[in-house]
Amino acid sequence: MNYQFKVNKTTASRLASEDFNQLGFGKVFSDHMFVADYDNGAWKDLRIEPFGYLPMHPAMSSIHYGQSIFEGLKARKNEKGEIIIFRPDKNIERMNKSALRMAMPEIPIDLFYQALDELLQLDHTWIPTGDGQSLYIRPYMFATDEFIGIRRSSKYKFIIFTSPVAAYYSEPVKVYASDDYVRAFPGGTGFAKTAGNYARAIQPVEEINKRGYQQILWLDGIDKKYLQEIGTMNIFVIIDGKVITPSLDEGTILPGVTRDTVITLLKEWGIPVEERRISIDEVADAHKAGVLEDAFGAGTAATISQIKAIGYKDKEFTLPAFEEREISMRLLEAITAIKDGKVQDTHGWLRVVSRVSV
Ligand SMILES: Cc1ncc(COP(=O)(O)O)c(C=O)c1O
Repeated sequence: MNYQFKVNKTTASRLASEDFNQLGFGKVFSDHMFVADYDNGAWKDLRIEPFGYLPMHPAMSSIHYGQSIFEGLKARKNEKGEIIIFRPDKNIERMNKSALRMAMPEIPIDLFYQALDELLQLDHTWIPTGDGQSLYIRPYMFATDEFIGIRRSSKYKFIIFTSPVAAYYSEPVKVYASDDYVRAFPGGTGFAKTAGNYARAIQPVEEINKRGYQQILWLDGIDKKYLQEIGTMNIFVIIDGKVITPSLDEGTILPGVTRDTVITLLKEWGIPVEERRISIDEVADAHKAGVLEDAFGAGTAATISQIKAIGYKDKEFTLPAFEEREISMRLLEAITAIKDGKVQDTHGWLRVVSRVSV
């Protein structure tokens, strides 16, 4: 289906006032945003407008009751100057699963792509081209009913804005497996990318930061021993040549796009990969036996982030040196080359947006 958009272009681009050598992450916003309003069962008033503030009613229900979901993906330019987006089909699929769980309306896939393509074409000069830099894309949806009471909202806003970001070279991280706090449990919302999942992590992360760890390694909420995920990354451990990652079966883990990419590549390379329950005791035993070869997080921000050490109760399991970890290094190189459009896209993972209409 072809949607009709109103496009109201800015008359005062902010591009010239931004220094692309000082981008950092999430602080600079491109000139335009896409906005759509859901009312009476349909997405209406589709428009691209200058990035700016939104009017808000004090009783807007998402603020009080948390019907709010989001996604995160990245665009780059390839050597031909075409805009390329890595696996956006996975993001819209996940967004619609989050929407269903949070009693929110789905975004039609054609609408998502059309909004994304038009917005990126219009703001293509905001896609930074420095080594490792990219344009972070943030689609999100929230309930806008002006109402006090807990029920499915009848009105929503869907917005996409973009933000040029610096290269993210992740230093190896120290993670702490916490049995004091729980992120998700079967039947909960762990698989959904919904605001509350992130809010509940802030205070526990601050606590472990004070103890010298950067991220929490979440354990399951029932036995408090099975690994779930780390911050905004899925976890992989390599024990005695086998790559192991928690399975998605219980609905407690976000099904990461990078996770799926890692599993696909490992299978193609003939490296054994198991999606199953893995306990912190198994990790501890492997460490004791000298067969804990690697551990890393996988996510859009850093792609692959090696883990330096895993803390648990009063112990710390230290991982081998960075350079000795052949598999995580190979994954990082391979996925980066695909995302940058530097190797042939044999999986059909890149959406190529032409810039011709701009
Ligand atoms: C909780 C959580 N787990 C895992 C991930 C990794 O997912 P992806 O690879 O799609 O970025 C993210 C990032 O979106 C996340 O927020």
